[in-house]
Amino acid sequence: MRAVLVAGARPNFMKVAPVLWALEAAGAEVVLVHTGQHYDEKMSDVFFSDLGLRSPDVNLGVGSGTQAHQTAAVMTAFESLVGELAPDVVVVFGDVNSTVACGLVTAKSGARLAHVEAGLRSRDWAMPEEVNRVVTDRLSDYLLAPSADACANLRAEGYRDDQISLVGNVMVDTLVGNLDRARERPILDDLGLPRGGYVLVTLHRPSNVDDPERLAAISSALVDLADELPVVFPAHPRTRAQLPAEGLGALRIIEPCGYLDFVALQDSAAVALTDSGGVQEETTMLGVPCLTFRDSTERPTTVTEGSNRVMGTDPGDIVSAVRAALSLPREFPVPELWDGRAGERIARVLVDAHGRNRPRPTDLAREA
Ligand code: UD1
Ligand code: UDP
Repeated sequence: MRAVLVAGARPNFMKVAPVLWALEAAGAEVVLVHTGQHYDEKMSDVFFSDLGLRSPDVNLGVGSGTQAHQTAAVMTAFESLVGELAPDVVVVFGDVNSTVACGLVTAKSGARLAHVEAGLRSRDWAMPEEVNRVVTDRLSDYLLAPSADACANLRAEGYRDDQISLVGNVMVDTLVGNLDRARERPILDDLGLPRGGYVLVTLHRPSNVDDPERLAAISSALVDLADELPVVFPAHPRTRAQLPAEGLGALRIIEPCGYLDFVALQDSAAVALTDSGGVQEETTMLGVPCLTFRDSTERPTTVTEGSNRVMGTDPGDIVSAVRAALSLPREFPVPELWDGRAGERIARVLVDAHGRNRPRPTDLAREA
């Protein structure tokens, strides 16, 4: 079986690694494609070295652009590649523009499409990621869901059971596999941060950071918070470009971190304040209280079973929400199948389906 795996943006690298290794262990030929959506050393290369992930076989080098420009550039470059490689299956991850772009090309290519992280829904159609999730699922032959709520969403949308596999969370595979190494990193000492005594912030959603006035209001609330606890803020390049030039001296604004350093920072944080999807999941696994600076989440398991609270997007609430989160418990049940073996389950689903050579499940999909 020849499988093409597509990664493009920061969270994709953590998701692709366990699937790549499991597919290769199961005897598949794997071609790793990097679309080049993220390209800075700290948004891309560092993850390959931190995770021990081999270099991509192909880098499409698409870079940044508007939603349509970036999606179209990935589609154009990926179409020729799929024609050359003639894969049996293309595996796409998560909800970034590279995911939907390669999904659309694959669906028209004759290869089968597998979506890792199928079924997540924020129900916020203003998020580019929600559009990407819904469309990618509709294009997919294999819907590989991380959680029971994701399976329920898919069933409610009319997908059939023979398309859906509950496989667990691949992000957790990577976390479990790297936690010991992360805990050995000297990042806390390097930054002079007290173990368990600081707030870790990441923000990169367009709705929070693209309007400089709004980001200034959020930053000002974080400066107030820094009166009470150190605030360390690894800034995504989208965010960095909009941050006010002055008045943020109380914050520890740093470059985006490598994966191991960032896991170490999450693990020892008193509270994480974020709009990231992956951080909601990782903090749940680490038992670190997480405040999600959004009005919705596509990862409700992190709220119902984990340490996450969706706090809304009022900067005025930040200080009181962090104070309240400091007293939350730090022990949580582990969500079903978030056990470090999702990659293996995915490989089994894909290899079994290939072996059975069944008709494309998409042909049967969704009752009329
Ligand atoms: C993308 C994903 C988002 C994901 C995030 C992970 C989409 C629609 N969005 O958002 O779902 O949560 O990645 O981090 O796919 N830039 C650099 N260097 C880089 C990459 C980006 O400077 O290596 C800057 C560019 O100015 C670029 C901007 O960041 O225009 C945004 O990058 P882009 O990939 O379009 O979206 P993200 O905000 O990173
Ligand atoms: N991450 C990282 N360094 C950082 C911020 C995040 O390594 O400075 C990791 C984090 O541990 C998680 C992933 O990046 O594994 C989440 O990616 P991001 O927040 O960019 O995207 P999202 O999950 O929101 O799509």
